[in-house]
Amino acid sequence: GNPDFDSYRLSDEQRMLRAAVRALAEDKIAPRAAEIDETAEFPYDVRDALVRSGFHAVHVPEEYGGMGADAISGCIVVEEVARVCASSSLIPAVNKLGSQPVILSGSEDLKKQVLPPLASGEAMFSYALSEREAGSDAAAMRTRAVLDGEHWVLNGTKCWITNAGVSTHYTVMAVTDPQHGANGISAFVVHQDDPGFSVGAKERKLGIKGSPTCEIYFENCTIPADRIIGEPGTGFKTALRTLDHTRLAIGAQALGIAQGALDASVAYIKERRQFGKRIADFQGIQFMVADMAMRIEAARHLVYAAAARAERDEPNLTFTSAAAKVFASDTAMSVTTDAVQLFGGYGFTKDFPVERMMRDAKITQIYEGTNQINRMVMARQLVK
Ligand code: CAA
Ligand code: FAD
Repeated sequence: GNPDFDSYRLSDEQRMLRAAVRALAEDKIAPRAAEIDETAEFPYDVRDALVRSGFHAVHVPEEYGGMGADAISGCIVVEEVARVCASSSLIPAVNKLGSQPVILSGSEDLKKQVLPPLASGEAMFSYALSEREAGSDAAAMRTRAVLDGEHWVLNGTKCWITNAGVSTHYTVMAVTDPQHGANGISAFVVHQDDPGFSVGAKERKLGIKGSPTCEIYFENCTIPADRIIGEPGTGFKTALRTLDHTRLAIGAQALGIAQGALDASVAYIKERRQFGKRIADFQGIQFMVADMAMRIEAARHLVYAAAARAERDEPNLTFTSAAAKVFASDTAMSVTTDAVQLFGGYGFTKDFPVERMMRDAKITQIYEGTNQINRMVMARQLVK
C-alpha cells in the first residue's frame, strides 16, 4: 500500500483555523503590540477579541461548552498570536496551563464548576507552582493547605504568576502532608474572591510586558473542600503531567516569535539598499535567513510532533514536549538575535518590532522549566 505521509500535514480545519487566527492577529493585535510593550498594560481589548472568536481557550472539551480543539490546533493559536505579540499569546497559553490540571485530574463536579466559564470567557486561569525559594526545585514548595471540616485553608506565597490580577481562577499546588515530599503535595482551584487571597505588585520585566507577573498571597485563604483537584497527595504529579502537555505550547509561542522575526527580516532585506543593491542580494545575508528559516521549520516539526503525541497521550510525551520547548526556545533566541542584526542600527530601535521580539524570546528559555531543567527532564527519560 501507499506509505502514510500524514506525519505532518495539517487538516483543512487546522489550516482554516490558522488563517482565521492570523487574520485576527494582523487586524486586532499586531497594531497594538508595540503599545502593549511600551505601556506594560494587560491588553483587555485583545483578550475580548480572542474571546469573541473563541480563540482564548480552544482546548476546553465540548461537553463543557468549549471547542474541544486538538493539541496541534491549540499550538496554532498560540503560534499565530505570538507571531505578532508574545504577551497576548499568554492568554490562550496560560488558560490551558491553568485549567489542564482540572481537565487531567479534576472531579466531574469541579470540571462542571470551572470549565464552562473558561469556555465562555467569563473566567481566566493562572497556574501557581513556583515560589521564591522553589523555582526549578518545585517540590521544595512551602505553601501549606490544611483541611478544616468542609474547607481547605491555604497559607503561603506563590511567585512569578503569569496573568495574576487578571485571572479569576488560580490552580495552586500546596503541601498537604509535609512528611511525604513530592507525594505530599495537592492541587487546588482558588477563586480571586476567596477570602484570604490577594495579588502583589507587578514585576518589572525585560519582555512579555503586557502579561502581568505577580506574587499571590494566601493568608488563611479558605476554599470549599471540593476545590481540591483529584486526591490529596497527587498534586505534584498532576502539575508535572500538566507541564508535559503545555511545555510544547511554550514551544509554539517561541516558534511564533521566531516566525514573526523572520517575516519582518525577509521584508526588510528586500527593501534595504546598500552598495547599490538590495542587502538581500548579498550571500552573507542570504545564508543568515536560510539558517533562520531552517531552524524554524525544524522547531515547527518538533512542536507539532509533540502536540500529536499529547493528543494521543503517548508515554514519550515527557521527552518530546521538553525537547520541543528547548529546541524552539533556543531557536527563537537565535533567530530574533539574528533578526536584530539584519536590521542593523534600525533593529536596535523601537521603530521596528525585532528588538521587542528578541526581548520577548528570552523568557521562553526560562519559564515552564528552564532549558537546563528541561534537558534534565529529557536525560532522565534516556537513562532511567
Ligand atoms: N508526569 C507525572 N508524574 C511525574 C512526571 C511526569 N512528567 N515526572 C515525574 N513524575 C513523578 C515521579 O515519578 C515522582 O513520583 P514517585 O515518587 O511516586 O516516583 C514524582 O513525580 C516526583 O518526581 P521527581 O522525583 O522526578 O521530582 P524532582 O523533585 O526530582 O524534580 C523536576 C522534578 C522535573 C525537576 C520538576 O521539579 C520540574 O519540572 N521543575 C521545573 C519547574 C517548572 O517547570 N515550573 C514551571 C512553572 S509554570 C511556568 O513557568 C508558567 C509559564 O510558563 C507561563
Ligand atoms: P532557579 O531555580 O533559581 O535557577 C537559577 C539557574 O540555575 C537557572 O539557570 C537554572 O536553569 C539553574 N539550575 C537550577 N537547578 C539546576 C540543576 N539541577 N541543574 C542545572 N541547572 C540548574 N511559575 C509558575 O508557577 N507559574 C507561572 O505562571 C509562571 N510564570 C512565569 C513568568 C515569568 C515572566 C517568569 C520570569 C517566571 C514564571 N514562572 C512561573 C516561574 C518559572 O517557572 C521559574 O522562574 C523557573 O522555573 C526557574 O525557577 P527560578 O526562577 O527559581 O530559577
